[in-house]
This record gives sequence, structure tokens and C-alpha cells, in this order.
Amino acid sequence: MDRSFNSVTRPRWTQILFLPIISFLCMLTWPCTADAAAQELHKGFEATPNPSISSFQPLLNDSSDKFSFGFLRVNSTQLALAVLHVPSGEPLWIANSTTLSRWSDHTKTFFNGSLVLSDPRTRTFWSTQTQGDKLVLLNNSNLQIQKALDNRNNVPTILWQSFDHPTNTLVETQNFTSTMTLVSSNGLYSMRLGNDFIGLYAKFDSDSDQIYWKHKALQARAQIVEGGGPIHVRVDPDGWLGMYQNETAPVDVESFNSFQRTLEGLLMVRLEPDGNLKAYYWSGSSWGLDYQAISDTCELPNPCGSYGLCTPGTGCSCLDNSTEFSSGECSSGSPSYSNDPCTDPESQNIIRVLRREGVDVPFKELMRYETTSSLEACENSCETNCSCYGSVYNNASGFCYILDYPIQTLLGTGDDNKAGYFKIREEADKKRMDPGFRGGDRSAGSGFVMFDGGNRVRKLQGLGE
Ligand SMILES: *[C@@H]1O[C@H](CO)[C@@H](O)[C@H](O)[C@H]1NC(C)=O
Ligand SMILES: *[C@@H]1O[C@H](CO)[C@@H](O)[C@H](O)[C@H]1NC(C)=O
Ligand SMILES: *[C@@H]1O[C@H](CO)[C@@H](O)[C@H](O)[C@H]1NC(C)=O
Ligand SMILES: *[C@@H]1O[C@H](CO)[C@@H](O)[C@H](O)[C@H]1NC(C)=O
Ligand SMILES: *[C@@H]1O[C@H](CO)[C@@H](O)[C@H](O)[C@H]1NC(C)=O
Ligand SMILES: *[C@@H]1O[C@H](CO)[C@@H](O)[C@H](O)[C@H]1NC(C)=O
Ligand SMILES: *[C@@H]1O[C@H](CO)[C@@H](O)[C@H](O)[C@H]1NC(C)=O
Ligand SMILES: *[C@@H]1O[C@H](CO)[C@@H](O)[C@H](O)[C@H]1NC(C)=O
Ligand SMILES: *[C@@H]1O[C@H](CO)[C@@H](O)[C@H](O)[C@H]1NC(C)=O
Ligand SMILES: *[C@@H]1O[C@H](CO)[C@@H](O)[C@H](O)[C@H]1NC(C)=O
Repeated sequence: MDRSFNSVTRPRWTQILFLPIISFLCMLTWPCTADAAAQELHKGFEATPNPSISSFQPLLNDSSDKFSFGFLRVNSTQLALAVLHVPSGEPLWIANSTTLSRWSDHTKTFFNGSLVLSDPRTRTFWSTQTQGDKLVLLNNSNLQIQKALDNRNNVPTILWQSFDHPTNTLVETQNFTSTMTLVSSNGLYSMRLGNDFIGLYAKFDSDSDQIYWKHKALQARAQIVEGGGPIHVRVDPDGWLGMYQNETAPVDVESFNSFQRTLEGLLMVRLEPDGNLKAYYWSGSSWGLDYQAISDTCELPNPCGSYGLCTPGTGCSCLDNSTEFSSGECSSGSPSYSNDPCTDPESQNIIRVLRREGVDVPFKELMRYETTSSLEACENSCETNCSCYGSVYNNASGFCYILDYPIQTLLGTGDDNKAGYFKIREEADKKRMDPGFRGGDRSAGSGFVMFDGGNRVRKLQGLGE
């Protein structure tokens, strides 16, 4: 999130005191809740984006007017269906369509039993593929497609709900199950559940799925029963993240700063573009940081970019001494091989080797390693394996950590027992040699365009493609 966050503040006591009174008055004068019935859309509804709106066009509000479903303008010309937290303008959910549609009068959304976003002339961008009767936005921000009330049990049948398809955010009371994934807005990081843990994973290239944070259930209040079904997670309004196998008792409680402080206002948990998992608390005027899974910057998956070195207390520098850390990256080394080095013999040939002592792998308890008898044996096992991008040897333990994804940020330690070995593409390296080179052009978005010798332009695949 770009916004700056203040620390969590308590609501004023007057608010706490008067809220129940207002609710009580509403119960006496019943029509004051009647407008809740208006918070739904029926078959036949359709809408097109208004060209004069610059950020968000509401289509459906919840009964508390805290949340709104509508068109969200993305990158000025594109459109996404989203649920927003109205007071902060923060999107809590975005429909996951593979292609974004344009903010133009060719685009429309309609409800015909399915909620559909389409350009009727060309294609359907996104559809819930349901046969419901109405679209409802609940006061916890959950967007639901329901069947009409079934008189027998008086509860609506829910055919689809946005809570089952989270984007990068969970709000309080939302259940996150083992079949769901949170994905950071840049697509690089994801959160998933294991059989007894929460895991954060990085996609450093198309094949990699490196776990970098793992929170195992402590099982203090309840044990995980083997064969007792998958676990799920829920943000509790009392300021904690609970892990459950069944609803009787949580198998884990990860508490936030606001733990049991009975604050009013929304709590949300978000997987951020830097790979951290953070909880925020809406104080009424700003989001306060309430929790972060990774508090040490150097333990983030890639804080200094590729071929960067993060030293606790010092910050970012580069693995290669002859390059400088500037504008968030090290100029040497492309983030990725343009082709799979195992299938493209050319990319195997054009590497040079960078060695650096005093470096370590981050989140090393989650990294794959072999035990080798010497530094040479460790380097050799990487050198001969085309899917190895680098290795770090610990001379004291004999552990040889294998990096099987393009080199990201490593950890700086003063410990000379640890030595790193990294493969670098010669091609990427030319950038440093060529004095006329002014750095990569990232504006292409998905790729990294490199000017090589002035005439040839090569497009190297970027991260996460
Ligand atoms: C929803 O609330 C916004 C203010 O946040 C208001 O401008 C808009 O008219 C409302 N829309 C509907 C459909 O009620
Ligand atoms: C709703 O519209 C979509 C897109 O035009 C169409 O594929 C779908 O069959 C329609 N559904 C119903 C129930 O009519
Ligand atoms: C949300 O709606 C439910 C009923 O649908 C109600 O019990 C609850 O008090 C409401 N919560 C808020 C914060 O308005
Ligand atoms: C969005 O959809 C794509 C492909 O359908 C999927 O790979 C991705 O995980 C989805 N994202 C989220 C946040 O569910
Ligand atoms: C989450 O799951 C629990 C237990 O199944 C259920 O009681 C609760 O209503 C669910 N929350 C939401 C928002 O659906
Ligand atoms: C739920 O978990 C508790 C604590 O582990 C256990 O005692 C209970 O039998 C479980 N209930 C069900 C229905 O599995
Ligand atoms: C790089 O810097 C480190 C620490 O200052 C030093 O130990 C190492 O010898 C240098 N390597 C090169 C290739 O200059
Ligand atoms: C090469 O490295 C990959 C990834 O680290 C590993 O899965 C594979 O077993 C290694 N191959 C050999 C022959 O060691
Ligand atoms: C590695 O350890 C061996 C034996 O403990 C020692 O002789 C050697 O000097 C060490 N090498 C480095 C690079 O620290
Ligand atoms: C918006 O533009 C930026 C920079 O041009 C790009 O990196 C990003 O992927 C775009 N966002 C979407 C959702 O297309």
C-alpha cells in the first residue's frame, strides 16, 4: 500500500457509548433498517463506465455504506470490477480476469443470473457462471450471488461469493481455506495453507515456487487431528489471525498489536508487493499497521533486487563489488535467463561466475541444501547442473545451499565461513562494461528491454512471466 499509516488508535469513548443507543433506537423505529433491502441488484441490471469518473464508479453499496462494489479505474485507461472500502478508497477485492477491459462505453457489466463483465462486440472478460436471482453486498464487504429465499429454512442459497475468491486481501470474518490463494498485486508472491501451516511463496521465475515464510500452528489450545480435514484461517475482529481445523477451538492464534483491545473499525490482512504479510486497522481516518509477518527487511524475499545483498543494519548493496546499487537494483545481472538454461545450450555457455564471501541465503531453514565435503564440491555440484543458478557453502556446517531460481537478494553476514557462487549471463554483464549504457527500460511492463551494442534490441523475460 502506498499510503502512510498511523499507529492504531482507540475510538473515542463517546463513539463506543452512543453506537449501541443508536442501534437500539433503530430497532424501535423499524423502517430505519428498511433501506437494507435496497442493497441488491436483480436480473436485468446493467451498467457502463462513466467517462468522467476518474477513480471509482459505485454500482452497489452495502447497508452500512462502508463498502461499495463497482468499476475501478486501473492505470487510467483500464477497468476492473472491485469492492472498495469507501472511507479509505482501498480496494479489498478485484475480479480476477486474465485480461483487463478498457474504461470505455464498449465495456459493460450486467447481471443475468451471472455477474458478467464483457465487451459485447468482442468478448466476455469475466463471468461468475451462476444462475442466481440477485447480487448482494453484505456489510462485511462480501459480494454474493444468491438464489431467492427458500421458504423452508429462510436462508438464501449462496451460489457464489467474493470471499471465496480473495485477491490480495482478507477482511475480518473472511474464511481463507486450503483451496484458496492470496496473490500480491504484482503477481510475485502468494499465500497458501499447508496441512498445519501458513506459507508464503515466491515466483522468481515460471518454474519456481520458493517458500520464504512458514508459520506452523502452535496447537496450544487444540491439536490438529490427522485426517481431521484441512485447516482454514480467519482474521478475528478482536485482533488476531486464527488457524482452525474445526470451529471448536483455534489450533493457532497469531496476535496483532490490537489483540483483544475491542476496537471498532475494520481489520484487514494483505499480502504486499514486497512479499510481506501485513495487518492493518482502520482507525476512522487512516490505516494503522497492526501486524507484519516479516519484521526484518533482509528476511523479505527480494528486498534489494536481483544480485543484491541485504546486510542487516546497513541495507542494500550489490553482490558484485564492481557494480553500484542505484534506483533499487544492481546494474549487473539480468533478473532471469531469457531461455531455460537447461534446454537452450546457448544460455549455458554465456555465463561468467561471481564469487563472494560473507554472504548467506535468506530464510535458509526453508532452503534446499546438500551436504558436501568442501567448497569446491559445492560449487561443482552447481556448476554441472544447468538448473542451478548459484550456491552458498557454509564451511562450518558443510551445508551447500542450492539456488534453483534466478539469483535474488542474498543476505550479507560478516561470516567468512560462508561463500557464495553465482552464475551471471555474459549478455547481462555487457551493461556494466558498456559506458554508453543508461540502464534497462522497464516501461515495457512485463519484460526487460536491453540495448546491446546499439543495434540489437533484446527482450529478456522479466520476473514472474
Ligand atoms: C453508494 O455510495 C456512494 C457514496 O459512497 C454514492 O455516491 C452512491 O450514489 C451510492 N450508490 C448507490 C448505488 O447507492
Ligand atoms: C448471461 O450472459 C452470458 C454472456 O452473454 C451468457 O453466456 C450466459 O448464458 C447468460 N446467462 C443466462 C442465465 O442467461
Ligand atoms: C451486519 O449485518 C448483520 C446482519 O446481516 C448484523 O447482524 C450486523 O450487526 C451488521 N454489522 C454491522 C457492522 O453493521
Ligand atoms: C487468477 O486467475 C489465474 C488464472 O486463472 C490464477 O492463476 C491466479 O491464481 C488467480 N489469482 C487469484 C488471486 O486467485
Ligand atoms: C467462516 O466459517 C465459519 C465456520 O464455518 C462460519 O461460521 C462463518 O460464518 C464463516 N464466515 C463467513 C464470513 O462466511
Ligand atoms: C474439534 O477439535 C477439538 C479439539 O481438537 C476436538 O476435541 C473435537 O473432537 C473436534 N470436533 C470435531 C467435530 O472434529
Ligand atoms: C568485494 O568487497 C569485499 C568486502 O569489501 C571484499 O572482501 C572482496 O575482496 C571484494 N571483491 C572484489 C572482487 O573486489
Ligand atoms: C539439479 O538441480 C535441480 C534443482 O536444484 C535438482 O532438482 C536436480 O536434482 C539436480 N540434478 C542433479 C543431476 O543433481
Ligand atoms: C574451512 O574449514 C577448514 C577446516 O575447518 C579450514 O581449514 C579452512 O580454512 C576453512 N576455509 C575457509 C574458506 O574458511
Ligand atoms: C499498470 O502499469 C504499470 C506500469 O506501466 C504496470 O507495471 C502494471 O502491470 C499495470 N497494471 C495493470 C493492472 O495492468
